Amino acid sequence: MKDPPIASSPENASVLRPDFFWGFATAAAQVEGAWDADGKGHSIWDNFSRIPGKIIDGSTNADATRAYDLYKEDVQLLKKLRVNSYRFSLAWSRIIPLGGKDDPVNDAGLQYYSNLVDELLANNITPFVTLFHWDTPQALEDRYGGMLDQARYTPDFERYARVCFAALGDRVKHWITYNEPGVYTLAGYAAGVHAPGRSSLPGRNDPGDSSTEPFIVAHTELVSHAHAVKIYREEFKPKQKGVIGITLHGNYSAPWDENDPKDVEAAERALQFEIAWFADPVYGSGDYPPCMRKQLGDRLPYFTDEEKALVKGSSDFYGMNSYTTFYVRHRDEAADINDHKGNITSHDTNKAGISRGAESATPWLRSNPGGFLALLHWIWNRYRTPIYITENGTTAKGEDDWDPSSGFWLDDTFRQDFFEGYVGAVADAVRSGVDIRSYFAWTFTDNWEWAAGFTDRFGGSWVDYNSPEKTRYPKKSAFELGRIFDHLIEK
Ligand code: GAL
Repeated sequence: MKDPPIASSPENASVLRPDFFWGFATAAAQVEGAWDADGKGHSIWDNFSRIPGKIIDGSTNADATRAYDLYKEDVQLLKKLRVNSYRFSLAWSRIIPLGGKDDPVNDAGLQYYSNLVDELLANNITPFVTLFHWDTPQALEDRYGGMLDQARYTPDFERYARVCFAALGDRVKHWITYNEPGVYTLAGYAAGVHAPGRSSLPGRNDPGDSSTEPFIVAHTELVSHAHAVKIYREEFKPKQKGVIGITLHGNYSAPWDENDPKDVEAAERALQFEIAWFADPVYGSGDYPPCMRKQLGDRLPYFTDEEKALVKGSSDFYGMNSYTTFYVRHRDEAADINDHKGNITSHDTNKAGISRGAESATPWLRSNPGGFLALLHWIWNRYRTPIYITENGTTAKGEDDWDPSSGFWLDDTFRQDFFEGYVGAVADAVRSGVDIRSYFAWTFTDNWEWAAGFTDRFGGSWVDYNSPEKTRYPKKSAFELGRIFDHLIEK
């Protein structure tokens, strides 16, 4: 993997289309706070974060960055950073507190999102709206086990989607149904480290089954996504004329020993288990990849003919979240019953001892622009669908210790280099014909990073969590992004 020229290189001038979208991404549960304000119901993350031991720093998302109260100030900050778009998610339980198809709608919740959309548009910022970013209404979890029950869950999700399209679709033209269905199911049902916290790992979780539930929940996500898209396309799109799709996670996998065909095959298999699991049904064959069926047998659900027809083609774009690269080695032993990665091991260095990238403050995340470039090509070659990059970014060491009263601003050189590299990869891919239409940095401000609590600072602005207003201090990288996209986007 060779790193491409950095974003600011002269050859990248004006390579991105004039209508390229760039901005920052957030998720409701990570920023809003106001967890039970104005009629909001509880989400599985509200509950999960209150179970002792689940969140590294013992925090909850009760206040987060208070984006619910401070949205007007936040839009002004976005404007100052010169973004042209902003990606955020809706909290289902704010809109339908009990979640279900026959449960009442909370007008105050809808009003909040309507105000946010208006505020963005008044400031020339295009909203990208995610319906589901992991915060399932707790009431649905209690009622029937949430996504484990595809038959009962799907109509509830359909109704929620319909309510959102009807209320916001006159102004919102970019919809994302699910954010990273794969991480939701793997972290929530295989590892059990995210809500709803199920797995077969003794001592860690409530009962669960890491060998089956992740695949069942994934199936529910795919099929309910497709139903929501059908509703949008049939009932709303003709008038509202927006686009809709799904956002998938996926890091790049490179062979540990590129001269060992078994490692080469293992790296490809890892990509298929991680990405093609969701992407093949939507953008490719219409079914799960054969290597998954081979390893998992009947533990992998089967699409009915009707589901297959519904899911295939159910996304107007490829929503892509990606952060890092791993070296991957084959295993000679049979796959473990709880394996969901394609019977491989992941490594920080390859056979030659080369590191998978410079270390961030987050153990799994290392900077590797060359891997990101390779992944862009892998996705484009396999699916030939316009790509919206909906998340990419990094933490940087030492930011917890930054002192806002120091008189110096936060010159986050690690993150600036990261963006130069990764956005450079975007430009390089576009120059060689890959159709990329957006780039959203994760994330707008430091926020509540799920099980990592407030310990992972991914933000373009540093947040003082001790201040009542959760004061935001822009980091230098946030302004640098504006300069980079000035250079890249054709006028
Ligand atoms: C993604 C997720 C975001 C954020 C990010 C950084 O998987 O969609 O919500 O947590 O990772 O860890």
